[in-house]
Amino acid sequence: MANYFEKLKLLSTKAYAPYSKFHVSAICLLKDGTEVSGVNIENAAYSVTICAERTCLAQVYTLGYQKADIVKLFLYTDSNQKGSPCGTCRQFLWELIAHDVPLEIYNQKGESYVVTIGDLLPYGFTKEDLQ
Ligand code: THU
Repeated sequence: MANYFEKLKLLSTKAYAPYSKFHVSAICLLKDGTEVSGVNIENAAYSVTICAERTCLAQVYTLGYQKADIVKLFLYTDSNQKGSPCGTCRQFLWELIAHDVPLEIYNQKGESYVVTIGDLLPYGFTKEDLQ
């Protein structure tokens, strides 16, 4: 199996994070073996920043893939603590990946844990709630 920690660490150097200096990377593994990458992209208007999870998932859909194509999402945060997707990303993931897809989350020490968006966002807001 590919060493996703090393891949993520290398990918995180591509993050555009001049303000927080906090580098985050994501790799989405698809059924056909394709790996789609994303990093956090910041902005001088801070709230415009896009997290790595969202740049990655947006690229998956841009390439024509959909929810059913997603096998796993790997995530790396430049922290010695346990990384965790922000609230905005949880809502984004909730709609765009299956709720039981494993999210394998690494920190800078190479420690990881696996969780799902179903675990991270119980009772998430969906399109059914718009009715
Ligand atoms: N960040 C992510 O890319 N993903 C997360 O789930 C948490 C936060 C980014 C956003 C910002 O560029 C930096 O980390 C600090 O918050």
